[in-house]
Amino acid sequence: MAEVSARANASTETGAAHSDRDGATGESQLPILRFLTCGSVDDGKSTLIGRLLFDCQLIHEDTLESLSVESRNFGTTGDELDLALLVDGLQAEREQGITIDVAYRYFSTPRRKFIVADTPGHEQYTRNMATGASRCDLAIILVDARKGVVTQTRRHSCIAHLLGIEHVVVAINKMDLVGFDAKRFAEIEKDYLEFAGALGIPHVTTIPMSALQGDNISQRSDQTAWYDGPTLLEKLETVDVSTAAASAPLRMPVQWICRPDLDFRGYAGTITSGSVKTGDHVVALPSARGSSVSRIVTADGDLDSATAGDAVMLTLVDEIDISRGDVVCAANDRSEVADQFAADVVWMSERPLLKGRPYLLRLGQQSTVCQISELKHKINVETLEHVASRQLELNEIGLCNLSVTKPIVFDHYEDSRESGGFILIDRLTNETVGAGMIRFSLRRAHNVHWQAVDIHKDVRSTLKHQRACCLWFTGLSGSGKSTVANLLEKRLYSQGRHTYLLDGDNVRHGLNRDLGFTDADRVENIRRVTEVARLMVDAGLITLVSFISPFRAERRFARERFEGGEFLELYVDTPIEICETRDPKGLYAKARTGDIKNFTGISSPYEPPEYPEVTLHGGSRSPEALVDDVIEYLVSNRIIDEV
Ligand code: ADX
Repeated sequence: MAEVSARANASTETGAAHSDRDGATGESQLPILRFLTCGSVDDGKSTLIGRLLFDCQLIHEDTLESLSVESRNFGTTGDELDLALLVDGLQAEREQGITIDVAYRYFSTPRRKFIVADTPGHEQYTRNMATGASRCDLAIILVDARKGVVTQTRRHSCIAHLLGIEHVVVAINKMDLVGFDAKRFAEIEKDYLEFAGALGIPHVTTIPMSALQGDNISQRSDQTAWYDGPTLLEKLETVDVSTAAASAPLRMPVQWICRPDLDFRGYAGTITSGSVKTGDHVVALPSARGSSVSRIVTADGDLDSATAGDAVMLTLVDEIDISRGDVVCAANDRSEVADQFAADVVWMSERPLLKGRPYLLRLGQQSTVCQISELKHKINVETLEHVASRQLELNEIGLCNLSVTKPIVFDHYEDSRESGGFILIDRLTNETVGAGMIRFSLRRAHNVHWQAVDIHKDVRSTLKHQRACCLWFTGLSGSGKSTVANLLEKRLYSQGRHTYLLDGDNVRHGLNRDLGFTDADRVENIRRVTEVARLMVDAGLITLVSFISPFRAERRFARERFEGGEFLELYVDTPIEICETRDPKGLYAKARTGDIKNFTGISSPYEPPEYPEVTLHGGSRSPEALVDDVIEYLVSNRIIDEV
């Protein structure tokens, strides 16, 4: 085979199957094609990529040698080279025989450069599929000719479509195992085209192949005389994926602000779409303040214009206030700014997506807390039906309404993957739990405005001679929350203070009577009572909340809805054995026999606070003594005056 100058530029440990022949052919000018391979486990993805690289003569001699050793140790192809081993770089994968991480590989032919994301087909790795697919132009979906179109084929096609991939190549692989049967190929093709049609994938090419034997990969196979379409490589080399990124309107998210002295203020970032010239009118969103570009500064000197992909620093004619995360847009064609929008969400976590739970949303340089205000439907990936649901489980996809705590700047995903795609992060574990594609902003977000009022919280509390605050009691059922909260309210009342006590059981008789005790319902229960408590604090009241409120995420959200120092978390820390002995409502007994499901502490979790303002030891002190503890804390922290 031809010797090529291999450069270890891969993100996997094989570090072998790559070459760069720029010098010889000037390929750097060729359009790049980013594609991904996906399909079910064992459909032969790794073998296919290995075959592509092998046929393109991109494998180094020493790699071939170690490959033949490994083929004997781990391979599944007898004495033949196991090309899958070439790309299944991770030891764990080799031993399990599956691919478990997204691996990017770079290769080129005289006609084109390629970046390929090899994404896993294993059920639980939809996350990697979504991650790998989000920057690709084309997806190769592998189908085992013996099995035909299976759930994973549909799921991956569905995700690829949602992620905006317009070109799908269906690689109908292992044709050698069905005797290169034209009828079998036609059957699978028909099946797939029906599904793709319903999904709305615009460009589908089906190719019969055997990655193992090299049929229709780079060489036309003489086993498939009945097939007159392109080989895989021909298709990859010729597919037109030119996008309109450069002709799209200007978007430049501001990464940092350069202010070396009072005379210079530059906004640095990478242009994600469109182009900019000096003199152009631009606006910074979300503030919508406008100016025009005075200079386009780069490390190599000033430019007259710059375009998508360029990292530049803009200076503007006017001094306008721009912060990191703001987006500089063409003045006549701006991104949207909204705090409520609809998006398709691909869920990637073992813990389900819960309506009302706060997550961190990251879109480009922007990040904000968001909640799913409504799960409109989930998508059945088999039938593409819309299914009603209250939560999204691992690998599920659904259309959601989201609301964010501060407005974000975005475009519709179909117009821009960069400014319309986001990820959701669990704030407690920092794990990426979802990926989303913004479809449209909600009209109500545009039509509902904050109404200014003249009588504020401060004057309302002053009239009552107190500081309004929220005293949030959390703890197990039977821990003594409600008893202590009730006694405390009586004490405050007798001191002439204006209070209100929101008690879980009571609020569940009215406002929250539609809610039960599933995780999803508890999240919503706490969201609602948080908002009510907030209104009551705004009304100037010392507001006591006594809810189990078992989850940290919601208590944290509650805290963040109040101003600094206004929210106090009081943890009634009574051991569960004592709560169970007390069992004032006989609920523990019922929970033990299974008559009550999802009972906190027994069949549903309780996450104790990490940093409560006050911990009340309900097992060892009397309710009166605990009230004294709270009063002492409130006085010493100047929340209430001494009486
Ligand atoms: S929370 O978890 O959503 O905050 P909340 O404080 O509103 O709960 O309601 C708890 C009260 O509901 C308990 O004090 C108890 O009387 C009653 N209850 C009924 N079923 C359950 C259950 N499965 N888990 C916990 N409490 C329950």
